[in-house]
Amino acid sequence: MKQIPGIVLLFFFAATLLHAADFPTTTAGGDSINIPTAHSVLMLRVGDDGRVYEIHYGAPQKEIAKTNVLARETELYPPFGDGFILEPALEATHADGNTSADLIYVKHSTTAIDGNVSLTRIELRDPAYPFFVTLCFKSYVSEDVIEQWAEIRNGENGAVTLARFASAAPQFKAKEYWLTQFHGDYKTEATIAEDKLSPGIKILDSKIGVRADRFGFPSFILSLNAPADEESGEAIGGSLEWSGSFQLAFDLDFKNRLRALCGINPFASEYKLKPGETFTTPSMLWTWSDSGKGQVSRNFHNWARRYGIRDGDKPRPVLLNNWEATDMNFTEQLIVSLFDGAKKIGADTFLLDDGWFGNAHPRNKDNAGLGDWQANTNKLPHGVSFLASEANKRGINFGIWIEPEMVNPSSDLFEQHPDWAIQQPKRELIYGRNQLDLDLSNPKVEEFVWSVVSNTLSTPGVSYTKWDANRFVNQPGSTYLPPDEQSELLIKYNFALYNVMSNMAKTFPNVMAMACSGGGGRVDYGSMKYFDSFWPSDNTDPVSRIKIQWGFSHFFPAETIAAHVTQMGKRPLKFAIDVAMSGALGVDMDVRKLSPDNLQFLSNSIALYKSEIRDVVEQGDLYRLESPYDSPRAALDYVSADKSRAVLFVYQLQDGETKVVKLRGLDPQKKYLVQEVNWETPTAAHKRQTFYGDIDGATLMRDGFTPPAYKQFDSAVIELVGESEKIAAGK
Ligand code: DGJ
Repeated sequence: MKQIPGIVLLFFFAATLLHAADFPTTTAGGDSINIPTAHSVLMLRVGDDGRVYEIHYGAPQKEIAKTNVLARETELYPPFGDGFILEPALEATHADGNTSADLIYVKHSTTAIDGNVSLTRIELRDPAYPFFVTLCFKSYVSEDVIEQWAEIRNGENGAVTLARFASAAPQFKAKEYWLTQFHGDYKTEATIAEDKLSPGIKILDSKIGVRADRFGFPSFILSLNAPADEESGEAIGGSLEWSGSFQLAFDLDFKNRLRALCGINPFASEYKLKPGETFTTPSMLWTWSDSGKGQVSRNFHNWARRYGIRDGDKPRPVLLNNWEATDMNFTEQLIVSLFDGAKKIGADTFLLDDGWFGNAHPRNKDNAGLGDWQANTNKLPHGVSFLASEANKRGINFGIWIEPEMVNPSSDLFEQHPDWAIQQPKRELIYGRNQLDLDLSNPKVEEFVWSVVSNTLSTPGVSYTKWDANRFVNQPGSTYLPPDEQSELLIKYNFALYNVMSNMAKTFPNVMAMACSGGGGRVDYGSMKYFDSFWPSDNTDPVSRIKIQWGFSHFFPAETIAAHVTQMGKRPLKFAIDVAMSGALGVDMDVRKLSPDNLQFLSNSIALYKSEIRDVVEQGDLYRLESPYDSPRAALDYVSADKSRAVLFVYQLQDGETKVVKLRGLDPQKKYLVQEVNWETPTAAHKRQTFYGDIDGATLMRDGFTPPAYKQFDSAVIELVGESEKIAAGK
């Protein structure tokens, strides 16, 4: 066995000579490339063979001695076919049919984009072909996030076929690896499962192209050595900025090294890179923490608010949505009467959901109308702008639902352009929710989809939209693409989708947008760049929502997690409100049907949320205190950046005992006023009760305090306000 490294080195030496002759590189082997953030570093090294290797990702450490032998299995972005025998990051067939690639360092550069962000580009080239890969790393220093992608360029005379094209493929070294994934289905989104990885490959993936996150979204946490908990243990978070089919493959090799190959799913997705074309993979986000999963989440939240989502620093409006109250059965009069309810409860925006369009094929059920985006003249004789102006007259903003990528066969659009739907020749069309996906790889279709978005959002008075997508792809064929590009359909679809979404964000900066996809079927940082929030699930039973919101909170900040009070599950109203208050609060019910007391309670809650809770929840640091998976109670707190304010939420899922909850994230020295707010009493006059006038953060974190929630469906919202802020607020 000892002979092998020598043989390998000899081979490398010979290979290096050949490379040097064919293509001179500009560096000597041994060069280090370090990509640091505030509390982590990714350390790379150019080997003597000219390949780039990964040395370390994790805690900052001193330079590692340069004499280390670099094992071929630790290559940073390993290509298939020229010596690498494990799962490769890249598989390319050159124009001449050669199925191997080799990637040799050419040069690298690091540029400061601003005081916080820098970009490192490492240029690699196949020594035998004009075939280039640039590995790009953006480091967000204070958020401890590294964003990584690859640019693959074909300089050959013919097409190069890409069969694999990972965004990133870093390696980790630990005794054990524990993978936390977030799987699920319609109404069970973001369900958490954590397992120890065993040798071989474990793949989390999607093959359904559109609404591709339906059975799991492309994000995970890897715990190193032992399962990390919320506040301790080494954990790495990964999240792919891609809304199409994805693959996250975890390859645990014979030396107990783990490689995470992450990117667009290469399954059935061969891509022909034309001469001169560059394929830019979607980005992969990484963050590392030695203080558990909680810090992984806070790093993602901080990054998202600053760089990853729209309007990261703006409060989300409180929405009143009509979907659960009316379904598609409404009239103009009914909708206008709901505006009064919106006003009464203090909602900011009324969101008109599905069912407002289609004339020859009216959208009264889900079997017709998608594609025909003109207001239905029976339901809305005065059009959408009339509704918007009626809402505006009452001081309410107006939002509207769209599903622009889809078509019902029962529609004018399908009658005129049956070829615009994604379909396989010689196969009977398979519908899902009576609809088909439009083929966005066709530029005419992209133009049409943009016209739907642009016309709808240009309607005077529209200032919000919910973009839905209820159909995945299971017959991935295009009447537009030539036969040898059919496998590119789902990739091209998603790039075209991003064109439209990005146009929306640019053209309508004042129209906030919620991403929806039959519940949480499109929740990823690829689409979230263009959205303010997302709809996590059509399951709005607060008992289920606690877990669903808990799952998404691992990657997405509370302001993105739309949380609406509904009557699903018939839970106590206060319980439903308290659960929704821990996200971007909204309401989805016919508030005219509430009893006067409940109406009063709901409007008091919304007023409280807007004046005292929303900014802490949406902009604060999240600490998940007690998991709904482990105990009959769930608890979480949010703490403002300066630690002067915090909000604690406690939800009793089963009958339990009186038990302390220990807060986290507070200033140990600071004295806090601790009050229960949103307290339910028969009279609106008693809405708060004080537990401590003056208690320090250290005591609350060490000894905890006993919240007033013991029985099933009890819940409590506890507000903490620092001494000086209390005086300022006159409390
Ligand atoms: C699915 C969404 O998740 C719901 O909230 C609603 O908008 C319906 N689609 C409308 O068809």
